[in-house]
Amino acid sequence: MNLAVFVGTKGRGSNLMAIHDAITAGRLNARIVAVVGTDSAAPALERARGAGLPVRVVPAKGRDAAGYADALVDALREAGADAIALAGYLRILPEAVVDGWRHRIVNIHPALLPAFGGKGMYGHHVHEAVIAYGAKVSGCTAHLVDRDYDTGPVILQRTVAVEDDDTPDILAARLLPVEHATFVEALQLLADGRLKVEGRRVLVEPRRPN
Ligand code: GRF
Repeated sequence: MNLAVFVGTKGRGSNLMAIHDAITAGRLNARIVAVVGTDSAAPALERARGAGLPVRVVPAKGRDAAGYADALVDALREAGADAIALAGYLRILPEAVVDGWRHRIVNIHPALLPAFGGKGMYGHHVHEAVIAYGAKVSGCTAHLVDRDYDTGPVILQRTVAVEDDDTPDILAARLLPVEHATFVEALQLLADGRLKVEGRRVLVEPRRPN
């Protein structure tokens, strides 16, 4: 699977590195053909360069939505990407990308969707809301990406406990390794061609005999 990994401007790049490490260890049957970001100085892009991964900076600023969409599609085609992973990329993807890579785009969200998702619900804000609500379990969701924030069909979900004395940082730290493992597992299911989408549901088909 030729994978493009989209990163955010503020993210640490830990999901990107978890994907890269899984590929290096033979746990994910893919090749990172592009690490895409809007800001060249983003910490996650610095980590990508440090790991020798191909970086493509596609700025959104100074372009209208159509111009940004065209530039992204060109970058993905040039890189030969046949699947996309959103690893801390916080923008809505242009329709041309969602439609062009339909059911081949996976996002990881640090909560059990549909709860604690949507516009503005990312990173610290999510864990703050989970604790403030008094939830007893939290978790992460790997899902296919559609035209809105965090609303695509769910591939995998994993849970963690919320402890009474948790702070958002403590909860985030407990969840992060679970996110990494869940993201890699979902991408491997995609690489194996084992995801079948029926309406809103994603069914995992049995492993095909070799
Ligand atoms: C992760 O918590 C992920 O769930 C969310 O953005 C964060 C990115 O973290 N979508 P990192 O940059 O991969 O460390």
